Amino acid sequence: MPDKSEIRHFVSMLDFSADEIADVLKTAKKLKEEGRTHADPPLAGKTLAMIFQKPSLRTRVSFETGMTQLGGHAIYLAPTDISLGKRETTEDIAIVLSRYVDIIMARVFGHDIVEDLATHATVPVINGLSDYEHPCQILADFQTIIERKGALEGVNACYIGDGNNVAHSLMFGAARMGMHMTVITPPGYEPEGEVTREANEVASNTGSKITVTNDVNATAGMDVLYADVWASMGQESEAEDRKKLFSDYRIDADTMGRADKDAVILHCLPAHYGDEIDYETSRTPNSAIFDQAENRMHAQKALMFHLAG
Ligand code: CP
Ligand code: NVA
Repeated sequence: MPDKSEIRHFVSMLDFSADEIADVLKTAKKLKEEGRTHADPPLAGKTLAMIFQKPSLRTRVSFETGMTQLGGHAIYLAPTDISLGKRETTEDIAIVLSRYVDIIMARVFGHDIVEDLATHATVPVINGLSDYEHPCQILADFQTIIERKGALEGVNACYIGDGNNVAHSLMFGAARMGMHMTVITPPGYEPEGEVTREANEVASNTGSKITVTNDVNATAGMDVLYADVWASMGQESEAEDRKKLFSDYRIDADTMGRADKDAVILHCLPAHYGDEIDYETSRTPNSAIFDQAENRMHAQKALMFHLAG
């Protein structure tokens, strides 16, 4: 059995150094160029277990397809299959799965659940989204920004909407990579204070500038504009109230009029058209939302290769 201290996990965007993130992104580009089949599939014979407490289109299909393309196999464990934490403990699930599979990916509510899996697993654990972070999404976002802008360092990006899991991982990732990140939220919906503090600490070593503001006009002149749903999975009961509170925090023709003319529009999807982004704007040439969705697969293939290849 491998020494637990040597096993790498990807639970937080901050688990990887800037060099590691750059390496994964380089591999992702290469794998994308190679296409769907690889001459010598690097994960042949390996298995990925995918635990889901929440619904998914992109994460499930991109991981499962990606593993197939790398020569391995993925097992989908639906919310009711293993009833994480109810039918048996997270600790026992991590130990048992580690006896069968080579990588565990989990989409969970509490971030502590995916941390707990990583504590007890003897194989790499990947966070496929928790209430606190969505690091796999940010790898794909970064691949997309590099495709459109040529680099991450020095790019002025903004995120508009709720200070949620995606915003948190963007802040951590931007801080690591020297990208400037402005997070624009309604009052009371800012990212967690601890995330802002930690991101600023990392940013102080990389030249990145992290800004949190309630001013919707902060989108002016930005190179990248990013939106996500106003109410995340698990916050459905707040959705109606948030529609009123968030109505100015959206990407539409007005926002684009204030941004750089070549500004890239990103959205992690699923989108609620008419709320955080309007349909017409999402279909303009500035929009990279479907490249971003595609890149989930390339970036995660590179991530799995990095962790278990
Ligand atoms: N962006 C994203 O994670 O999509 P899914 O919820 O469909 O996996
Ligand atoms: N913030 C969203 C992201 C979905 C991919 C959520 O957690 O539901």
